[in-house]
Amino acid sequence: MYSPQQERHFFELSKTLLQSDFSPQDKAASQQISIQLHEVINYHEWKYYVKNSPVISDFEYDSLFKKLEAIEAAFPDLKTPSSPTQRVSNDLTNEFASVEHLIPMLSLDNSYNAEDLNDFDERIKKLTGEEGDIEYVVEPKFDGGSIALVYENDLLVRAATRGNGQKGEEMTPNAKAMRSIPLQANFSKYGIQKVELRGEALIRKDNFDKINAKRQAEGKSLFANPRNAATGGLRMKDPNETAKRGLEAFVYQLGYAVNTAEENVLDQFPTHNQGIDVLAELGFKVPTIERKLCKNIQEVAAFCEKWEEKREGYDYEIDGMVVKVNSIALQEKCGYTSHHPRWAIAFKFKAKQATSTLLNVDYQIGKIGSVTPVAKIEPVQLAGVTVSSISLHNEDFITSKDIRIGDTVLVERAGDVIPYIVKSMEELRDGSEQVIDFPRNCPSCNTSLIRAEKEAAWRCPNFQCEAQVVQRMIFHVSKDAMDIDGFGKSYVERFYEMGWLKSLADIYALDYEAIANLEGFGTRSAEKLQIAVDKAKQNPIHRLLHSLSVHHLGKKASKLIAQEINHVLDLKNWTIEQFTEIKDIGPVVAENVIAFFQDEQNIQLLLQLEANGVNLHQTEEDKPVVVAADAPLVGKTILFTGKLLQMGRKEAQELATAAGAKNISAVSSNLNILVAGEKAGSKLKKAQAIGTVEIMSEEDFLVLIGKN
Ligand code: IVH
Repeated sequence: MYSPQQERHFFELSKTLLQSDFSPQDKAASQQISIQLHEVINYHEWKYYVKNSPVISDFEYDSLFKKLEAIEAAFPDLKTPSSPTQRVSNDLTNEFASVEHLIPMLSLDNSYNAEDLNDFDERIKKLTGEEGDIEYVVEPKFDGGSIALVYENDLLVRAATRGNGQKGEEMTPNAKAMRSIPLQANFSKYGIQKVELRGEALIRKDNFDKINAKRQAEGKSLFANPRNAATGGLRMKDPNETAKRGLEAFVYQLGYAVNTAEENVLDQFPTHNQGIDVLAELGFKVPTIERKLCKNIQEVAAFCEKWEEKREGYDYEIDGMVVKVNSIALQEKCGYTSHHPRWAIAFKFKAKQATSTLLNVDYQIGKIGSVTPVAKIEPVQLAGVTVSSISLHNEDFITSKDIRIGDTVLVERAGDVIPYIVKSMEELRDGSEQVIDFPRNCPSCNTSLIRAEKEAAWRCPNFQCEAQVVQRMIFHVSKDAMDIDGFGKSYVERFYEMGWLKSLADIYALDYEAIANLEGFGTRSAEKLQIAVDKAKQNPIHRLLHSLSVHHLGKKASKLIAQEINHVLDLKNWTIEQFTEIKDIGPVVAENVIAFFQDEQNIQLLLQLEANGVNLHQTEEDKPVVVAADAPLVGKTILFTGKLLQMGRKEAQELATAAGAKNISAVSSNLNILVAGEKAGSKLKKAQAIGTVEIMSEEDFLVLIGKN
C-alpha cells in the first residue's frame, strides 16, 4: 500500500504539520495544507486500523484531525467527499464479504481533561436547551475491535467489524465462536423483530499473557498488545482459531431496532442506561461496575479520573471512558456530525505509548560492574511523565529487537512500570541509522569486559574500577544497606570528587568541619550527617554484609549468614560446605562470598571499617527470631494490601513474622490471611473470589497478634 519512502515522507510531513501553527486565512495556502492533511491522516488511519502499528500517538492524530476540521470550518468548499472528516476510519482488508451496517457506525469526539468535559456539557446544554444538570452514563472505552451484531426474529444472523463505518467485514461464524455473544436472545419480548447492537471484542489481559507465552514457546511472533490479538482474532479464517483466542464481547449500544412493521421501537427505552440493562437481561455482556449513571458533569469527571487511576488493575485494556447523554430524547436533540454523535464524547487517558527518536546510548556501570546500556531519547510525554532515558537492559535485548541509533522507537510506560522500548520502527529508516556497537571494554576503566555463562550482562571485572567504587558507595549508604539517613547519591558523588571518599571506610572518617564549610552545607547539616553516620556504625552485621556488594549476596542471605557468625571476619575461614549447610544458601552465593573474603584488599577494607568504628560483631538483631510454638500466626501465610494507617507495610510484615506467619506476595489458594488496608484493590477482589482466604482489617490484625 505505502512504500518505505512514502511512509517516511508521511511520517516526517506529519511532524512538520504538527509543529506548524498555521491559521486558515489564505485560501490557497489552506487548500495546500488540507491536501497534505488528507494524505497524512489517511496514512495514519491505515497504520492504525489496517496494519495495527501506529507511528504517532492518538493525541497527535487528533491534533492533525482538528487542524483539518479548522480549515474546513473556515473554507467549507474544501470539505470534499473524500476528506477524512467525511468518513470514519477504514479497516477493510477485503478478505471477508463486505456488508452494509443498518445505520453508520460512527466514531467518537475526544476530550482529555475536566475542562474539555465542561465544554462538552456546555455544548449539550446549548443543543438541548436544558438549563439544569444533564444526566450522563459513563462507561469504559474498550480498546479492542468494534463489532456490529444483527439479530432477526431473536437469532443472531450477522456480525461484522466496523470497517469504514458504512460497510464492515462480515464475520458471523467468528462471532458465533465467541461465547459471550448469545446465539439467540428474546428481543421479541420487546416487540423487536430486527435489531443492531454495537460492541467491542476484547481479550482479557491475563488471557493475553497466556496466549503470548504459548506463542513464545512455539517460536511464533508475539502480539504487541491485547488489541492487536483481538482485532486479529476477529479476522481469523477459521472460527475455531477465534474461539481459541478466548475473545469476549462487551455490548454498549443499541443502534437500531424495528418491529415487524419496520417501525422504530427504540423509544420504549427512554434512557441509554435502561437500554443497556435490557441487553444485560437478554444475556449480553455489558459494563456493570465500570458503568455509572452520573447526575452531572462533575460526577462524570470524578468517575473518569478515578478510572484513569484504576485502569492498570482492570482486567481489560481500556484507553479512556465514554460519556453519553443518558436521555434518548436529549440525544436526538443533539444529533450527529458525519464523524461522531454530538451526545457522546470519549475521555481519553494519558497515552501509555508514544514514538520518539533514539539519540544515543550511554553505558552505566553497576556496583558489581554490570554494564547497562541506557537509551537517550527525544523527550516524550508518557502517561503524564516526561521520559528521556530508557534502559535497554543488555546486549541481547538490543540485538533481538534490532534497535539502532537514529531509529524511531515505540516506547511504553504502563502504570508504575518503568518505561521500556517496545520496538524500533524499521519501516521509517532512511539508512542513516547506526547499529549499536556494544563496548568490549569498560567505558570507565577500559578493562576488558567479561560475560559469565548464563548471565545476560557484560561485567567489568576490575574491583577497583572507579565507576564501580562510586556505585558501591551509593549502595552502601542506601536504605537497603547501611541506611545512612540523608547520605544519598549526590553526597557520595560530591565527596568522591573532592577526594574525600576513596573506599567505603572513608565514609566513617569524614571531616565534618570541612563539610560544614562546603557550599550548601553549614554546621547544622554537617552535624546531622555525622549523627546519621555514627548511628550506622552500630548497625547489625547483616546490614554490613549486604552493604559490601558481594555478587549474588542479597539481603536475605546476608541475614542467614549473620546468624551463624560472631564476627564478620570469621568468614575468612569458612568453607563452601559451611555455607551450603545453611538452608537457602546455594553454591553460587557461597563461592562469591568466599572469593570476597580471600581477597586481601577486602580484608584490609573490613579492618579499616572496624578501625573507623563500624561494628563487626554479631548483635541481638542478627540472631534468628525465635517464634513460640503457640504464637498466634504459626503456620499461616499472610499478605498486606492497600494503605495501612497505624504502621508501615514493612513494620506490619515484621510483626507478622514475629507472630509466626510467613509473608507471601501473591494472592492464591495458598494464602491464609489477607490484611486489607484502605483502598485495597485487585488483590482484595481476588482473595474474595477465592473464598478460602480470611480477610481482615488492620485493626483485626493488631488485635489478633495482641498489639491493640
Ligand atoms: S459508543 C455512536 N461506547 O470507540 C457511539 N464506543 O472511537 C459510538 N468504543 O468505534 C460508539 N468502548 O469501537 C462507544 N463504551 C463504548 C466504547 C466505544 C469502545 C469504541 C468503538 C468506537 C470507538 C470510537
